[in-house]
Amino acid sequence: MHERLVPLPTYRVTISNDGLARIGDVVRESAPAHRYAIVTDSNVGPVYAAHVRNALDASRATVFTIPAGEAHKTRDIWARLTDELLASGFGRDTTVVALGGGVVGDLAGFVAATFMRGVPYVQVPTSLLAMIDASVGGKTGVDTAAGKNLVGAFHQPAAVVADTSVLATLPLEHLRAGLAEAIKHGVIADAAYFESVCRFASSLSTADVTGDAMLDLVARSVEIKADVVRRDEREGGVRKSLNFGHTIGHAVELCSNYTLLHGNAVAIGMAYESVLAERMGVAAQGTAALVRVAVRAAGLPDVRPSSIAVDDVVTAARADKKARAGTAEYALPSRIGAMAGADSGWSVPVSESLVADVLRAPV
Ligand SMILES: NC(=O)c1ccc[n+]([C@@H]2O[C@H](COP(=O)([O-])OP(=O)(O)OC[C@H]3O[C@@H](n4cnc5c(N)ncnc54)[C@H](O)[C@@H]3O)[C@@H](O)[C@H]2O)c1
Ligand SMILES: [Zn+2]
Repeated sequence: MHERLVPLPTYRVTISNDGLARIGDVVRESAPAHRYAIVTDSNVGPVYAAHVRNALDASRATVFTIPAGEAHKTRDIWARLTDELLASGFGRDTTVVALGGGVVGDLAGFVAATFMRGVPYVQVPTSLLAMIDASVGGKTGVDTAAGKNLVGAFHQPAAVVADTSVLATLPLEHLRAGLAEAIKHGVIADAAYFESVCRFASSLSTADVTGDAMLDLVARSVEIKADVVRRDEREGGVRKSLNFGHTIGHAVELCSNYTLLHGNAVAIGMAYESVLAERMGVAAQGTAALVRVAVRAAGLPDVRPSSIAVDDVVTAARADKKARAGTAEYALPSRIGAMAGADSGWSVPVSESLVADVLRAPV
């Protein structure tokens, strides 16, 4: 058994290749409750939910299944889940267990944040993206027609249990999407890690995704994210650096009507935003080329789909919640492994004409 523990102020992240075998103990120790609500989706539930339910004692645990996919990270599904909990007699003495990717984690976390004014929850991330990013840091919420994650709450989990053995069933395109956030972590904080993600990414289709190399990758990403979140839980400053790739990324994701995977949209966002950073003289020359090489090594897209108009992306970026006074804000690297803007709150407004220029430029 290989296990890594990453501590945060009020909970810890356990990364191993057999965590699900011990999930009952972890949930009972970190968030004991009279009843357990396991929230999962239509892909993950059939494979893993019965095991988690039995581990928690089937008589006290109920499985609630939502349809898979970003299109269902909505207030409607939040309301439906909440009503189902109420109809099933769940009360204050409930722990929510989020078993799935980032969609389940964000949504179940938001249900936990609001149900009876807040009950504990445990994150059991099953996608690579959720293991290395979405399950850590306590951001929960849903999308609205106006944009991504516009309604939500900060609500820290009681524990996070990442078991890399479940990645065996994750489709390759979602493994690739997860690598986008790993590349992001390398860009913002660790050049050596950036290189190791590139190496791992180039052999992804044949790699053992449940092996030690993946465990190391997940653990390092979680450390980087945890380090940032520890310093700034509520995103008043340095946590903004985690938004690298996400201003244009979220805009492109919204413009695609959520047909682009979040990780793919972030890959596109990182490619454009690193060009922006170079054009503004914020990033060292060559940074954008390295980002692009990494994104391509992971088999991820680096240009917006031609069906998405530049003006629509610019408008969507303005509506993103990172915008201040109607101007989109960007978290930009100064080089691979370091972010710019320590003295300006870790994000900078960028003129829309420059953003449009960069989005229009041939690559
Ligand atoms: N809260 C945060 O800090 C944070 C950070 C990053 C991303 N996010 C959010 O995370 C979401 C994206 O997460 P995601 O990429 O995990 O998407 P997702 O939850 O849609 O999962 C991707 C797909 O993989 C399937 N799946 C997950 N685990 C599986 C497994 N082990 N085996 C088989 N299939 C599996 C899911 O059913 C889904 O079809 C976005 O909504 C994004 O906004 C949140
Ligand atoms: Zn993201």
